[in-house]
Amino acid sequence: MSTAEFGHEPVLVNPILKWLDPQPGQVVFDGTLGLGGHAGVLVPKIAPGGRYIGVDLDEAMLAEARRRLAARDDVRLDLVQGNYADVEEILAGLGAATVDLALLDLGLNSAQLDEPARGFSFDKDGPLDMRFNRSQKEQAVDLVNRLSESELADLFYEFGQEGASRKIAKRICQVRHERRITTTKVLAQAVASVFDSGQARQVGKIHPATRVFQALRVAVNRELDNLRAFLGRAAKSVSPGGRLAVISFHSLEDGIVKRCFREGKNAGIWSELTREPVVADETERRSNPRARSAKLRVAARLEP
Ligand SMILES: C[S@@+](CC[C@H](N)C(=O)[O-])C[C@H]1O[C@@H](n2cnc3c(N)ncnc32)[C@H](O)[C@@H]1O
Repeated sequence: MSTAEFGHEPVLVNPILKWLDPQPGQVVFDGTLGLGGHAGVLVPKIAPGGRYIGVDLDEAMLAEARRRLAARDDVRLDLVQGNYADVEEILAGLGAATVDLALLDLGLNSAQLDEPARGFSFDKDGPLDMRFNRSQKEQAVDLVNRLSESELADLFYEFGQEGASRKIAKRICQVRHERRITTTKVLAQAVASVFDSGQARQVGKIHPATRVFQALRVAVNRELDNLRAFLGRAAKSVSPGGRLAVISFHSLEDGIVKRCFREGKNAGIWSELTREPVVADETERRSNPRARSAKLRVAARLEP
């Protein structure tokens, strides 16, 4: 089966193969298994004798990946629900102290975005949910209706880099004063109305609610905290000589990875293999819109 049939085209597959350079018998930690797009490419490379540990917060993605990644007798597959930030506990639970290769492909996948009931998309009407892990309590609807105007503005600015954060927060508070905001459509309309009315000028061609939705998703799932926690612990989990690859999709994520690798270099922990972040080539950018903002950084774990 081609990876495209997975309903989520994995990004930067060739650069991942080049820079991770998977070999037969290696152990891989895939912290963002999703629908198993990267796994489908990496698993055959670690056969025979390899072990692929795939983790996702989202039970639905995990179930689908489990169905799609054919069991094979020459690679051990361990697919578990969990948070990649808990890498040490997950590996200990599986009796694997360290891994040779680790991969994070951040954010959400197309299957989650396309499902209205998950509430990730401003394009599709659905409940304001946005949780990767649906057993988590807090949803986007809670933040949108609970936070104060200034807390909302800070959230949109900090996690969405939204320049009109204050005006948008004010508008949301006006709308929710009339009625609790519970759907993606009502929220997207509230945000768009700030720009339609000329109160704020739209920058670029993206939908006016793009940054607000990103900010809420990042906050609901504590995405930056998880990334920082994982990077802080990855040095213990990747064996000396092993490699760590992170694909990020916005400058907040990439900045965290860049800083970790720079500090890791100074501390003699990581050596960044990719001097500049690797981006998709023109062909991939044309065929897979998600690849346009993808940036890959890869580091090798130095000998202690
Ligand atoms: C971009 S997708 C990964 C796609 C995957 N590489 C593929 O090719 O199919 C990101 C996935 O990471 C999951 N995720 C996000 N944050 C996570 C976390 N802290 N721990 C585990 N999984 C997480 C999401 O549920 C989503 O399925």
